[in-house]
Amino acid sequence: MTTSARERRAIDAGSRIIVALDHPTPEQALALVDRLDPARCALKVGKSLFVRGGGPALVDTVQRRGFRVFLDLKFHDIPHQVAGACRAAADLGVWLLTVHASGGPQMLAAAREGVGDGPQRPLVVAVTVLTSLDAEGLAAIGIARGPSAQAKLLAGLAQDSGVDGLVCSPVDLADLADVCEPDFLRVTPGVRPAGSAADDQARISTPGDAIRAGAHHLVIGRPITGAPDPHAALVAIEREVAQALRS
Ligand code: C5P
Repeated sequence: MTTSARERRAIDAGSRIIVALDHPTPEQALALVDRLDPARCALKVGKSLFVRGGGPALVDTVQRRGFRVFLDLKFHDIPHQVAGACRAAADLGVWLLTVHASGGPQMLAAAREGVGDGPQRPLVVAVTVLTSLDAEGLAAIGIARGPSAQAKLLAGLAQDSGVDGLVCSPVDLADLADVCEPDFLRVTPGVRPAGSAADDQARISTPGDAIRAGAHHLVIGRPITGAPDPHAALVAIEREVAQALRS
């Protein structure tokens, strides 16, 4: 398995927690970025912020401030297009990017090829089943097996296609453990510190439980971005993560 770039680049203390910049404008996102420390977190830029004027310029700005960027644009297209998009993301210098595993083995291999083999290449992680899709939603698009079985199948496919890891709910980590190699990266949203609001997340875990279940990176938005002191909220989560890693 080609894990050298993954091993070198995946885990360090500063990127275990990925803060989701789900702000409506780049100005609001940058105001939050001003209050965070690049030694303690990476940042996720998703479709809304990227399309709403953020674009490559915002990615460049936050990278110049020292943050690693998780570009969450969930590419899903013909292999040639996805390879080109991944090459462009690599040229932009992002650390982590997403594709849809359901794009199939050729598309996943093209994504991996697109990011190249440089020492700083982006890590490619695959989304298995969108958490918004339940059994009924999958049946509507012709998939008879349920979300959990479909996620397992796609996780195996993503791993065999040479990408670096997957994005999944922390509650699915236990199920996926028997299909994933230990160093196949697991990136989990749906993380809530004990006592904080679930918001619109249904299948959640605490940071400590997610780490104990095998998560490598936690994507956390509102518990940090909506806190009166985002830095303090991040430090509290960091402490819980450190404790889970020790246990
Ligand atoms: O604010 P919150 O912590 O819920 O933000 C979680 C982030 O993770 C959001 O950017 C959301 O879009 C993303 N995400 C998710 N569930 C998925 C995939 C991504 O919540 N299955």
